Amino acid sequence: MASFKFFFVVTILVMFHPAAISFVSSSLELGDQCSLDEDCNVGLGCYKCGIEVARCVRSNITYPFSVVNNSMPFNKYAFLTTHNSFAIEGKPFHVATQEDTIVQQLNSGVRALMLDTYDYQGDVWLCHSFDEKCFELTKFNRAIDTFTEIFAFLTVNPLEIVTLFLVDYVKSPNGLTKVFTDSGLKKFWFPVKNMPLGGQDWPLVKDMVANNQRLIVFTSAESKQNTEGIAYQLKYVVENQYGDDGVKPGECSNRGESALLTNKNKALVLVNHFKTVPVKILTCEDNFEQLVDMIKTCYLAAGNRWTNYVAVNFYKRSIEGGTFQAVDILNGKLLCRRDDVHAC
Ligand SMILES: *[C@@H]1O[C@H](CO)[C@@H](O)[C@H](O)[C@H]1NC(C)=O
Ligand SMILES: *[C@@H]1O[C@H](CO)[C@@H](O)[C@H](O)[C@H]1NC(C)=O
Repeated sequence: MASFKFFFVVTILVMFHPAAISFVSSSLELGDQCSLDEDCNVGLGCYKCGIEVARCVRSNITYPFSVVNNSMPFNKYAFLTTHNSFAIEGKPFHVATQEDTIVQQLNSGVRALMLDTYDYQGDVWLCHSFDEKCFELTKFNRAIDTFTEIFAFLTVNPLEIVTLFLVDYVKSPNGLTKVFTDSGLKKFWFPVKNMPLGGQDWPLVKDMVANNQRLIVFTSAESKQNTEGIAYQLKYVVENQYGDDGVKPGECSNRGESALLTNKNKALVLVNHFKTVPVKILTCEDNFEQLVDMIKTCYLAAGNRWTNYVAVNFYKRSIEGGTFQAVDILNGKLLCRRDDVHAC
């Protein structure tokens, strides 16, 4: 009797162990109810949206360079972009906008990172801060740590291109150049002189790959283009308003600092689509249908131009295809005028 009781208890324990649940219900499809990432098919993750039950949603990119080809100009592709990519959960009292590490973001298909760079304690740090200063409670990590991870990614993925948008408060002369050099990232540097002005097409992706010029860096600090050869973002990119004003349905107007979205002298279009206050469990609402609507609104607002960079918070939090589907739609429009890159 004692041994039966023991067996019974063990059976119950095993049945309710998370691993057992995932074993029983593996291979769930898009939209199915789930409890763990492992329950869902490859390329899907298990996420909750608001007070809804958790469901399998997309969590992986379609590689446009391999699904279609990489013979088109760089500005004919769309790239998933994380807003404040470095502001990752896990630091007490810090405001987070992402939950995955930079390595996970890149491996899941994020191809542009927004990083806020500051001078702090004699080094360059990534901080989510204010007053153009970094503090103990706003610092995340040294820039070199993140840059080294990007270096490793570009090294093992020789066909991929990564863009960095720096919100740049570094004042120390050549402070950023030193971190780009020390991390090894200079090896992949796309030179400013090769960036087209006047709205011309960018070089072909395959040529950027052949030349190993696979890191595009834009800074918000205009003077750095002359002093350190780091491209001033607003010369090459137009962007919409960010924060709550950027997610109002049916509206897509330029960020104050940016040229008008209709200004075709800048070949790249960035759409910011994230609320001012990041609430992870509600971000799913911003990251699918509303996002797809917004890229259509911004297409018209930008003089019939599809977005190249789609910047979001908590990029995997979505409903169904989420941000990945939005980027597939954009690549379809950009590359072959179809509604999805898979139709090219
Ligand atoms: C993404 O999907 C591809 C197949 O399309 C798969 O090989 C790869 O392992 C997936 N990556 C992740 C991080 O799920
Ligand atoms: C690459 O794909 C585009 C879009 O489908 C197509 O127009 C172009 O001809 C292709 N180029 C090559 C070399 O296959």
